[in-house]
Amino acid sequence: MRKPILIGNWKMNGSLQANQALMVRVLPRLRMFRKSVDLVVCPPHPYLFQVRDLLGYTGIMLGAQNASGFVSGAYTGEVSATMLQEMGCRYALVGHSERRLLFGEGNQEVAARYRSVLQSGLTPVLCVGETLEDRESGRTGLIIEQQLQAVIDEVGLAAMANGIVAYEPVWAIGTGKTATPEQVSEVHQQIRQFLAKSAPESADDISEELRVIYGGSVKVANAYELFSLADVDGGLIGGASLHADEFGTIAGAL
Ligand code: G3P
Repeated sequence: MRKPILIGNWKMNGSLQANQALMVRVLPRLRMFRKSVDLVVCPPHPYLFQVRDLLGYTGIMLGAQNASGFVSGAYTGEVSATMLQEMGCRYALVGHSERRLLFGEGNQEVAARYRSVLQSGLTPVLCVGETLEDRESGRTGLIIEQQLQAVIDEVGLAAMANGIVAYEPVWAIGTGKTATPEQVSEVHQQIRQFLAKSAPESADDISEELRVIYGGSVKVANAYELFSLADVDGGLIGGASLHADEFGTIAGAL
């Protein structure tokens, strides 16, 4: 049985004052679900200490929005996975579409970042997804398989068992255009089937133990339907995670 997980990705939003106000309101709403759902918030790096302290002993966990593929050295502006682990992070997103499309992080770079997150003891959340052009040209499966294969080549399939894959159709992120339950189920099943057929003969099939979550305009209005799907193990929430009542209600849908 895969434990559901809900991850709030704050993106480049917040302030010391706003974070305090948000956490004071959202924590009482989230705490009631912490035994049945893994709950994670991913603030911008500068706020990790503040949010870690606000999370206290609630059982709600800290995550990062990205991590360097390097361990240390002359990489100005980068933050290593080990540093994030020292700051109390338990999870780290890698390969978010905004990193891929806006900042040029290709499949190999994402795979290196995945490796460093894994090696630092954090749980990597590999974001995969297609653009509208990919989908309309029938390349959704190909694009996602390429994104997965780069990580398999880098760390090996077995190492992915403890990670998480987040399917985030680019065209659904921040647009209000949520993927339909049929689209979500189809891609989540494709992800599991690809991982299953990637396993060498002798290896364990990780496709059933790996958690695959959905992100892309998840709101209160659609969360129950999306999270009721057999192949959806939770959500990666952007905009709605910045609103206490909405994020708390979405947690209750898992
Ligand atoms: O990482 C989650 C994010 O990409 C989804 O954003 O605002 O569509 O929930 P949003």
